[in-house]
Amino acid sequence: MLTLALLAAAAPTPSNTVQPRDQVAKVNELLAQETGNCMRRCTTFEKLHWWGASIGDAGCVELFRKLVSKQQHVVNLLLGSNFLGPECADAIAATSKTGLLRKVSALGLSRNQLGDAGVSLLAQAFHREGLLPVDLYLSKNSISALGLSALASRMRHLKPRLTRLHLVDNTIDDDGALLLARALTAHRGGRGLKLLNLNNNSLGNSSVAPLAKALAIGGELSLNGNRIGDAGANELTAAIDEGLVRLHTISLRRNSISPQAQASLRAACTRAAIKINLR
Ligand SMILES: *[C@@H]1O[C@H](CO)[C@@H](O)[C@H](O)[C@H]1NC(C)=O
Ligand SMILES: *[C@@H]1O[C@H](CO)[C@@H](O)[C@H](O)[C@H]1NC(C)=O
Repeated sequence: MLTLALLAAAAPTPSNTVQPRDQVAKVNELLAQETGNCMRRCTTFEKLHWWGASIGDAGCVELFRKLVSKQQHVVNLLLGSNFLGPECADAIAATSKTGLLRKVSALGLSRNQLGDAGVSLLAQAFHREGLLPVDLYLSKNSISALGLSALASRMRHLKPRLTRLHLVDNTIDDDGALLLARALTAHRGGRGLKLLNLNNNSLGNSSVAPLAKALAIGGELSLNGNRIGDAGANELTAAIDEGLVRLHTISLRRNSISPQAQASLRAACTRAAIKINLR
């Protein structure tokens, strides 16, 4: 985990100076050097761990073209910090139709430039025999309610497998989070979502309790760095007291909850054996 944190901290600034021609060359170079050590960057038959490789959209398109031409299945597709936008999402969606992405377990696209347009295109990859990841990383991609509605609309396909969803550092508000909560609640199949990380977004009061109720038993909900106030905290407290929240951990650091509301929430969590992080 330390290695990952250091890599994330050393991520390039959001403007790719690598030319499209060189992005394509970079992908072919990475594909040529098949190595087994996945501590930093690796390419094996199953694992593409390519954080911060500056492959850009042109490189991404080339990567999926190559996977199709080699009929190569992948399990881990980790492409964080690579200046990827909607064009890459479109390439992923197109490739999903071949069935080649159905073994993908981890899809890492954090710290890219997908935006709502990119997430909407990516969502088209989430279909039966398409791309149905267990771990989905979409942190820091300028995603708002619009992108969340695209994700929510695919939840009936995603839900049976999706276990951890990372959406840190986006601009998701209550509207977007409520769409997600409703979609999770509507499709009860599978193990259920065990981890939802919405740290550093724009959530207010109305989505906290619905999210807490929508996650799997023993799950973890992380909502640090949002705009949750007493109304949201009190609604959560009430839901916990009604036995509707069966999480293992809830994190609400860096919000705007008063000491009184925090005390009530803490007491409810103690009664329900839920670990609560408030400060
Ligand atoms: C969220 O924002 C805080 C404060 O601006 C910052 O310290 C932190 O690194 C950000 N990211 C996460 C993942 O919390
Ligand atoms: C949350 O509710 C509190 C009242 O408990 C209110 O003061 C605050 O403005 C609300 N926050 C948002 C983001 O609406």
